[in-house]
Amino acid sequence: MGRWPSPALLAIFVTIALAMNSIIPAAAHTGLKVGFYRHSCPQVEAIVYNSMAQSTKADDTVAPGILRMAFHDCFVRGCDASVLLEGPNTERRARTNTGLHGFDAIDAAKRAVENACPGVVSAADVLQFAARDAVVLAGGYGWHVPAGRRDGTVSIMEEALNLPAPSMTVSQLIDVFGRKGLSPSQMVVLSGAHTIGKAPCVTFDDRVQTTPVDPTLAPSFATFLKGQCPYAAIQSTSVDMDSTAHTFDSQYFKDIIAGRGLLTSDQSLLYDSRTSGGVYANNGAAFYRNFAKAMVKMSQIEVLTGLDGEIRRQFDQVNSH
Ligand code: HEM
Repeated sequence: MGRWPSPALLAIFVTIALAMNSIIPAAAHTGLKVGFYRHSCPQVEAIVYNSMAQSTKADDTVAPGILRMAFHDCFVRGCDASVLLEGPNTERRARTNTGLHGFDAIDAAKRAVENACPGVVSAADVLQFAARDAVVLAGGYGWHVPAGRRDGTVSIMEEALNLPAPSMTVSQLIDVFGRKGLSPSQMVVLSGAHTIGKAPCVTFDDRVQTTPVDPTLAPSFATFLKGQCPYAAIQSTSVDMDSTAHTFDSQYFKDIIAGRGLLTSDQSLLYDSRTSGGVYANNGAAFYRNFAKAMVKMSQIEVLTGLDGEIRRQFDQVNSH
């Protein structure tokens, strides 16, 4: 284990980190279970947490990268690590996934887990543990991740094109999330993931490069965004998702209320009666808890369990039998 503390010490660290700010999920009906690896790999969550702590310390873009990756995994073929698979026509190659990053952090976590418990823990579970840890390490609440997912062996580029787009209307967003079993209020709270990270100018420039600019933008924010995204650099520049984009907090919702939501899909949540209540309801401490609960729900979408799929040895490759 090199410079690492002992597994027992790591287990204590992670237990404390989770107990400080965590929620217990409602019973799952998916075959997943909190503590699934209690006997087969008791130190798994401590190992992933420690690995994520190292990765996020070395690179502060890792936490948002992993959180988004977990979302893109669950929305395409369920939370089965299909988003991690390498290959010419896999989800990773889809236009919607070109900005995904943080794969090295998942590789590091999965390798560390394989060293301790070879062939036991799925890459899909490692990704969900890592997403929870990304939120904790960025300042949010943790949650107990129901585990026992198995890894898929199929990843198809075209399927990732159905991921929600930033230009979608609220009705379209409600529809896409509804098809995954998530309610409009869960969609609103999960959009709060945009409290960390960055978005490229090309994902929102249609709001500011027109005359007049998108009227839902606060004028000062429109001016700020134009300054951030000069036309010549529009392909290569990214802007913070909210005004405290390194910290997991409820600022995203405060910004939306102030007309400073970055994407059309963010700002329009305020102007639809089905979602505006959620924007106000999450504009404070309730957000942390609501987000944790919604993540537990999202992490159970169309999972493989039992004898389905496999336990992948390498995070980005199907096992060769
Ligand atoms: C409601 C529908 C959503 C839309 C339309 C959407 C769209 C986007 C877009 C366009 C970006 C910019 C990234 C890029 O293009 O490279 C982004 C970033 C991000 N999204 Fe979403 N997203 C949605 C929901 C979610 C959800 C549910 C999560 C997680 C629970 C999430 C987590 C993130 C994170 C953390 C980032 C920052 C990524 C980074 O800094 O690399 N998003 N999103």
